[in-house]
Amino acid sequence: MKNKKNILCIGAGYVGGPTMAMIARKCPEYRITVVDVNARRIEEWNSDSLPIYEPGLDDLIRTTRGKNLFFSTDIARGIRENAIIFVSVNTPTKAFGEGAGMAADLQFWETTARQILQYSESPKIVIEKSTLPVKTALAMERILTSAGNGVRFDVLSNPEFMAEGSALRDLEQPDRVLIGSRETKSGLAARQVLVELYAHWVPKEKILTSNIWSSELSKLVSNAFLAQRISSINAISALCEATEANIGEVARAVGMDSRVGSKFLNTSVGFGGSCFKKDILNLVYLCRNYGLEEVADYWEGVVRINDYQQTRFTRTMLKAMFNTLAGKKICLLGFAFKANTGDTRESPAIAITKKLLAEKADVAVSDPRALKNAAIDLKDVEGQVRFIEDPYAAAAGCHAIAVLTEWDLYRELDFERIYETMLKPAFIFDGRNILDHQRCFDIGFNVYPIGKPPLSHF
Ligand code: NAD
Ligand code: UGA
Repeated sequence: MKNKKNILCIGAGYVGGPTMAMIARKCPEYRITVVDVNARRIEEWNSDSLPIYEPGLDDLIRTTRGKNLFFSTDIARGIRENAIIFVSVNTPTKAFGEGAGMAADLQFWETTARQILQYSESPKIVIEKSTLPVKTALAMERILTSAGNGVRFDVLSNPEFMAEGSALRDLEQPDRVLIGSRETKSGLAARQVLVELYAHWVPKEKILTSNIWSSELSKLVSNAFLAQRISSINAISALCEATEANIGEVARAVGMDSRVGSKFLNTSVGFGGSCFKKDILNLVYLCRNYGLEEVADYWEGVVRINDYQQTRFTRTMLKAMFNTLAGKKICLLGFAFKANTGDTRESPAIAITKKLLAEKADVAVSDPRALKNAAIDLKDVEGQVRFIEDPYAAAAGCHAIAVLTEWDLYRELDFERIYETMLKPAFIFDGRNILDHQRCFDIGFNVYPIGKPPLSHF
């Protein structure tokens, strides 16, 4: 089939790879090229060992790559040959200078804008896929029009709402697709091009269009609302522990109110992932920038509670294990920031491991997918942590187990077998409340869930 339109995506990461693969599957008449500055990443996308793990992704790539999906390092050519350009480069929290630790670091974004300007010879629709501070499109427009070379650029905002671990399902059946544009004649025409692309598989009523600033801001606010729910339930988990209420029962009662809803009310060791913290801090920074101190403080509380929850978890471990962890062997079950991904960015496991090491504990980390990334995250404490994929081997000889990721395989472990191999008294700290606590207690463990009374033999 002849390709009707060419699409380029700059940035072959967790977003660029899966989103473009889904477009390739749903729109066979489009030819899609994904480029990246990272040659190794591109090599991996072109191999059988993809750079990211995501359920179903291997299959999707196998059926699209080489047909209408291509991965390349030739950014200049990609820009020259494609009229529709998605940008999904990383936008991490700034680590230096003004706004360090809060603002978005837009250096990769700006480099891309300048490259688009440099290599464009014909009109382009440039689509923000990355998550960006509201009003970034204005900066993009200013850069693109700065050369006055007569090339027409329309900048759109089309934030991505997929979650890792369920990326392909989210991309195939999104709750909504949001497309923001300038409300000029040419902005509206560009918006329509993108609407038609998504209409290949997304029902029309789920394709929302808006002004460009609403679109940019909606992405930050969506993540802030999701993270806020987790911090809300985690804050209440502390109160449950103080009052013998049960967080599972409270979450169920609250979530059954249809105005609240039941999703994202699972208590945990805290949220992780590359986006929630960075996007909330970005929102907080923006609010401060606009002089909205109270609004900034309100949202900053979501991140504060998340840090508190991680500290609380290790404090519970310390207190339960007779106020000393020095020399004690602790097995961490799970290092990924959530199940079904190998991603460990901002995983609570990183902070928890370091807190345990600070108490001089002897830590063994287990995870079915994330050990490679875990070793990178823990490079600065190299030699102090053991990495053991098999959970039985990791737990053997330990004083305690802490469940940090809600992998299904942990629910199905033979805890009798594990108990036999551990030192006594044996402890379980369930940072995800996924285990059968009563059963573990009956086996002999001292069990410490989150937001529920502990089951202790003492
Ligand atoms: P990522 O780090 O996995 O990928 C970004 C890629 O961009 C990297 O491979 C990097 O090498 C490349 N890159 C950087 N500068 C470049 C340049 N000048 N030219 C070419 N390539 C360049 O990041 P990600 O997780 O895919 O996130 C990308 C954006 O999408 C972020 O803004 C993030 O907030 C947002 N987002 C992420 C998710 C998610 O689940 N990870 C979901 C929704 C939105
Ligand atoms: C999140 C959003 O869900 C996506 O919509 C968004 O596109 C994405 O961020 C992004 O912008 O990057 P993601 O971080 O991949 O997706 O995964 P989530 O399922 O949202 O989980 C985030 C964290 O919250 C994980 O650590 C997870 O374990 C934790 N979580 C989630 C809880 O602790 N409790 C819950 O009830 C739900």
